[in-house]
Amino acid sequence: MTMLKSFYEHRGPVPQDVIRAVEFTPAALTAGQALVAVLAAPINPSDLLMLTGQYGRLPTLPAVGGSEGVGRVVEIGPDVDVTGGVVNISVGQTVLLPAGSGTWATHLVADARRLVPIPDGADPQQLAMLTVNPATAALLLTEFVTLAPGDWVIQNVANSAVGGYLVQLAKLRGFKTVNLVRRESAVASVLADGGDVVLVDGDAPGGALGRDLSARVKAAVGGADIRLGLDAVGGAATDRLARCLSEGATLVNYGMMSGEACQVTPASFIFNDITLRGFWLAKWFSQASREAQRALYGELTKLIATGKLSARIGATYPVSQIKEAVAAAHAGERDGKILIVP
Ligand SMILES: NC(=O)c1ccc[n+]([C@@H]2O[C@H](COP(=O)([O-])OP(=O)(O)OC[C@H]3O[C@@H](n4cnc5c(N)ncnc54)[C@H](OP(=O)(O)O)[C@@H]3O)[C@@H](O)[C@H]2O)c1
Repeated sequence: MTMLKSFYEHRGPVPQDVIRAVEFTPAALTAGQALVAVLAAPINPSDLLMLTGQYGRLPTLPAVGGSEGVGRVVEIGPDVDVTGGVVNISVGQTVLLPAGSGTWATHLVADARRLVPIPDGADPQQLAMLTVNPATAALLLTEFVTLAPGDWVIQNVANSAVGGYLVQLAKLRGFKTVNLVRRESAVASVLADGGDVVLVDGDAPGGALGRDLSARVKAAVGGADIRLGLDAVGGAATDRLARCLSEGATLVNYGMMSGEACQVTPASFIFNDITLRGFWLAKWFSQASREAQRALYGELTKLIATGKLSARIGATYPVSQIKEAVAAAHAGERDGKILIVP
């Protein structure tokens, strides 16, 4: 059987230029390992930043691309205790792949203890996106401001996967969302996710910096307080969000889509007491207890497996077309995630 993996030996500014599909033959399984056939693995912005060298933690080179996904166990190595309760996998079991395990491949070898069984019958493509984005959306809603049903939250990149999960989770918890997108053609999909207010980000040409968006937001929420703002863009977009917030509110930057430094004017800090924070899921993982992680992922798995939480899928590609897939993910203005489906 031909096995393929998406391989890169150096980093560069154009992510699709540095990665390529190569054939490989895995070494015989050693103690505690399992061979898994990958069923689906998404391409996230963080994966692209690893290829360009701009991410906060970079894999040692050479590396295989892809940080999350779902697979099916095809072989179990020696000394994997499948009866002891610690490792709960068997051949044929569908599993969540370990974070950062190089998932854009037809197969991978993993430590069996790090494979998490997932419900049979659930959509593997939706569950392939479980590890990174749904958890980010859930934590952005809980880690910074204590929200009550009826409270408003504002976010940009609302048509992204994180944005969509956030809209759906906010709705389940009774929070209301103001959603900013950067193009008119993305409005309908956010409304379909359940966004309460959806606006195109930006200020009217010639308008005072930030005033136009904040006036439109204020009118849309009827002057209600907005105590939490979520920014994945940076640059001037950060300040436009800051100006929509109520006094003492928290603004969280968790993404760098514009590649620019977050701008917040002194007026927001001084006159409106805005706090600017950062969020990184990797940091949360390193600090959260096992119980907290289990509780979060238990809830999210259930929501996704029952279809209550989902993300749009723009297109799927085989591993052999990794360059085309990465280019499509990098291009922007998509209607959903690009998935590698071997
Ligand atoms: N901090 C963390 O732990 C963490 C965890 C997960 C995700 N994230 C971040 O969350 C963000 C969303 O991730 P995702 O996987 O949900 O993204 P995604 O589904 O791939 O969507 C990307 C989004 O970014 C927008 N975008 C692209 N380039 C932009 C630019 N130059 N200016 C403004 N907007 C731009 C896109 O708008 P169009 O559709 O109009 O192109 C789209 O809304 C990313 O920044 C990602 O790195 C952070």
